[in-house]
Amino acid sequence: MPELSINSQICTRCGMCVTACPIGIVRLADGEYPTYVAEGASRCILCGHCYAACPTGALVVSDERLDPNIQPLCEADDARIEPEKLGAYLRMRRSIRSYREEPVERPVIEHLMDIVRYAPSSSNSQAVRWLVIYDTGEVRRLTGFAVDWMRSMVSSKSPLTSYFSFEDIIRAWDNGDDPICRMAPHLVVAYAHRDAVAAKTDAIIALSHLDIAAPAFGLGTCWAGFFQMAAAQWEPLRVGLNLPPEHLSIYAMMLGYPLFHYLRPPKRKPVDITWRT
Ligand SMILES: Cc1cc2nc3c(=O)[nH]c(=O)nc-3n(C[C@H](O)[C@H](O)[C@H](O)COP(=O)(O)O)c2cc1C
Repeated sequence: MPELSINSQICTRCGMCVTACPIGIVRLADGEYPTYVAEGASRCILCGHCYAACPTGALVVSDERLDPNIQPLCEADDARIEPEKLGAYLRMRRSIRSYREEPVERPVIEHLMDIVRYAPSSSNSQAVRWLVIYDTGEVRRLTGFAVDWMRSMVSSKSPLTSYFSFEDIIRAWDNGDDPICRMAPHLVVAYAHRDAVAAKTDAIIALSHLDIAAPAFGLGTCWAGFFQMAAAQWEPLRVGLNLPPEHLSIYAMMLGYPLFHYLRPPKRKPVDITWRT
């Protein structure tokens, strides 16, 4: 059960922790210091808003589920970024489909995933788990199962074949190319327990953070849509992924060093906003 402790030497009783708590379980009675309301500890989602908002750093939430090294990694000023810089960074983000052969050092991937774990999740459930298929040969082996799935789609004349050019992909694969995982050295799979409420949305958000953070490390990513379609439908690939029992792959992302860098942003459609005033 989480515990909320207050350093009474520095708590000013400003009530910011009460305001910041998203579920209203922190109270501040007259002349007292902040505490959980009755049963509050059992309802705490460990989001840390109370702790992060405290102007003097007087409040600590501790719980065995939390990373004990939760000292601030940065101060608010370090995290500030100008809109122009952010806009330029995000506009230059691209799907990378050509990778260098060299692997990404494991500490670099660990650093990246350490950032990704700060992505929001429904009720702060943090239910998303990660499989990093680091071995490039294993990425190819599993991709082969996705090709087998495409072969089965073609032979069963699946309606999907009218949307996707599976025959071209199969032909390319048979000729030594990889239009599914683009010869990426690594594949990152987000997965969760099949009963985890909202995990699908959480995984897509977390993968988006991965997609956005990767270029800061000089890395490239690409959503592996075909791979995931196969993983959701093709038993040999599901078995090949070898996830823990009752866990399902939600989406996969290619990862590696880009073979080249894009020099200008894409053109996009104008944004479509309806203002209701
Ligand atoms: C959910 C999703 C699935 C995708 N699946 C694939 C895929 O299987 N193969 C691929 O080459 N690109 C895939 N993409 C990349 C899109 O084609 C790409 O984002 C789009 O063309 C815009 O290009 P950009 O990401 O470079 O800006 C996928 C993108 C998303 C968001």
